[in-house]
Amino acid sequence: QSNQETKILLVMDQGFYDLHTNLADEIKQWFTFHKHLHLKNIFIVSGGEEIKNSQDTLQSIWNEIHQHDICKHSFVACIGGGSLLDVCGFACATAHRGIPLIRIPTTLLAMDDSAAGVKNSINYFHKKNFIGTFTPPYCVINDIKFLESLGHRDWLSGIAEAIKVALIRDSAFFHYIESNDNLILNRDKDAVLKLVERSAELHLNHIASGDPFERTSSRPLDFGHWMAHALEQKSNYSIKHGEAVAAGIALDVMYSFHAGFLPEDECNRILKLFRNFGFTIYYSYMEDIIHERKNNQVKAMEEFREHLGGELTITMLEGIGKGMDIHSIQLAVLIRSLQELKIA
Ligand SMILES: NC(=O)c1ccc[n+]([C@@H]2O[C@H](COP(=O)([O-])OP(=O)(O)OC[C@H]3O[C@@H](n4cnc5c(N)ncnc54)[C@H](O)[C@@H]3O)[C@@H](O)[C@H]2O)c1
Ligand SMILES: [Zn+2]
Repeated sequence: QSNQETKILLVMDQGFYDLHTNLADEIKQWFTFHKHLHLKNIFIVSGGEEIKNSQDTLQSIWNEIHQHDICKHSFVACIGGGSLLDVCGFACATAHRGIPLIRIPTTLLAMDDSAAGVKNSINYFHKKNFIGTFTPPYCVINDIKFLESLGHRDWLSGIAEAIKVALIRDSAFFHYIESNDNLILNRDKDAVLKLVERSAELHLNHIASGDPFERTSSRPLDFGHWMAHALEQKSNYSIKHGEAVAAGIALDVMYSFHAGFLPEDECNRILKLFRNFGFTIYYSYMEDIIHERKNNQVKAMEEFREHLGGELTITMLEGIGKGMDIHSIQLAVLIRSLQELKIA
């Protein structure tokens, strides 16, 4: 902006901040060299899924926006995991009907999936992502150096979303992950860069070329997510999103095989990859979820349909790299698939 300084509010994830305590000072220092930018505050707030389950964090960010006179011509920059990005994104989308948001993800999952997307949300009525908007960020800055402090469970969570998008879109990328599983697990820099870049690109391509605001019922990027969302809720969010996604995908892969869509050798390859990474692909909660009914449907699937809107549409696989949509589930096949998963 000509003659006026641009105000910036920085919102930072406490879990990240605690392991990068110099960063706040470095950021303040950086701003002293960029006089046209005015850093109003570095607001440090807890991260993790819990913050999506109440409105406290949302309100505290609205309050910061209000107290520091952040307007549509200012920016909020959010440094944190997918949960904080979701809450902060919702706060920015709604305060003054839209404040530009710079997303600076600090988890693998947020870098390779969520930050590149257009969604934000909080959980409500004990339902995942019940309140939110579709609002693209102003920009996204990925710096894989931030990942060095990430714990193992969060590392695996990010890998699960990369496998998901490879499975529905890109067999070569699946092959890449398969051939480099040890390097990825051991956080080899080049392998991680490639994982983040290709996964974010595939997510972005889908959003940019398809149905960014989800007007149709098809939701391929939510492959494995009908069970994943139910698992997160059922476990009171003790199972992390990416962990739940891995189990949800494994179940739908097994279903795809037993329903006759996916060849057996490809099913086995996918399950082997999950095992190599050390994912848990079966939780006893999954039995309860499949046996709970609403309107003669599996309740979790019915809630997923309501969340998507329109006709029930679940993505399954007809091959590695090739997703397909189905509109009904054969309960007997689903139960059998879960039993097979239990002993796989
Ligand atoms: N909006 C979307 O399109 C979209 C897509 C996928 C997932 N999501 C959502 O993202 C959320 C999961 O996000 P997540 O997996 O990034 O986890 P998270 O944001 O819940 O963070 C997990 C933990 O890691 C900490 N943390 C963050 N960065 C760290 C770092 N570099 N080092 C050490 N600790 C760090 C956080 O403080 C938190 O305690 C879920 O709510 C999920 O629904 C949203
Ligand atoms: Zn997800």
